[in-house]
Amino acid sequence: MTTKDKLLAELKTHPGEWVSGEQFSNKLGISRAAIWKQINSLKADGHQIQSAPKKGYRLAQAADLILPTEIAAGLTTRVMGRPGLICLNETDSTNLQAKAMAAQGAAEGTLVVAETQTCGRGRRGRTWFSPAGQSIYASIILRPPLVPAQAPQITLMTAVALAQTLSQAAGLDAKIKWPNDILVHGKKIAGILTEISTDMDAVDYVVVGLGINVNTPKKEMPNEIRKIATSMMSHKGRPFSRVTVLCALLKNFERCYDQLIDDGFAPIMAKWRHMSDIIGQAVYVDVLDKRYTGIVAEVDDDGVLILEDAHGHRQRIFSGDVTRLRKT
Ligand code: BTN
Repeated sequence: MTTKDKLLAELKTHPGEWVSGEQFSNKLGISRAAIWKQINSLKADGHQIQSAPKKGYRLAQAADLILPTEIAAGLTTRVMGRPGLICLNETDSTNLQAKAMAAQGAAEGTLVVAETQTCGRGRRGRTWFSPAGQSIYASIILRPPLVPAQAPQITLMTAVALAQTLSQAAGLDAKIKWPNDILVHGKKIAGILTEISTDMDAVDYVVVGLGINVNTPKKEMPNEIRKIATSMMSHKGRPFSRVTVLCALLKNFERCYDQLIDDGFAPIMAKWRHMSDIIGQAVYVDVLDKRYTGIVAEVDDDGVLILEDAHGHRQRIFSGDVTRLRKT
């Protein structure tokens, strides 16, 4: 822990109370001038700290920063976030960073998060809007005992964990749109980008990237996103602690992952179906440069979408972009 982290932890043990510079100086073993310098640095990070002559310092409101100390304090997992917890202020993409670490041998459960991404990546080569300090951008390294053909199961399992988290943490009516978009009232609130590296016919590692729009105000979203996206704050009219949401997500993610590895995919798929509103819907699906139209008959036990056209012909679709034709 840095001196600054220790000072913040001390301030948090006296919420709303005045603590003198001398007390901090004795506790941390540094001069009062050094305390003053660290207080200024904490203020610059966004923490609201009041100071008054003869009284000292008082933490009015801690900033919602995704810091290792904050995550560690809220973490209730066994593996996820335990072997490595990398919190970056700014990075190109947490998935790129996690992939580089996985290639160097980073262990399962290693977590990379960032306050902002300069090159946030979405599915199908899209970019992921990643404004600073408002949302969650996280990537988790897994080393599942699965064959490459089973890797899509990880994405569907992650969608279940994400939808559960949004329901539990915020009471949101989160639905899964095949294969892995999380929607609230038809608007995208979170996305998943799974990247896999194989070694012969085994999975070497999987990086699961998660983007959740937590406190992004609608008016700050770019025009093309505003129409189709939403955030937790927009729906509930209040901000959420990103650290709390992240810790809850890691817990649900671990539970779902353990279930997948221990009991197989069927129980996860049952939950997925329950949280998805796609079955029975009239849709078109864009797969590369082809468009298929029909009714979603089923999402099978491998997560494959079965689309039935007007003539009753069934098409198995492994990956694509689904658009609903009309509301039923
Ligand atoms: C999608 O297109 O729906 C997937 C979006 C995934 C975004 C997340 S944010 C954290 C991680 N790092 C990235 O560059 N992308 C994923």
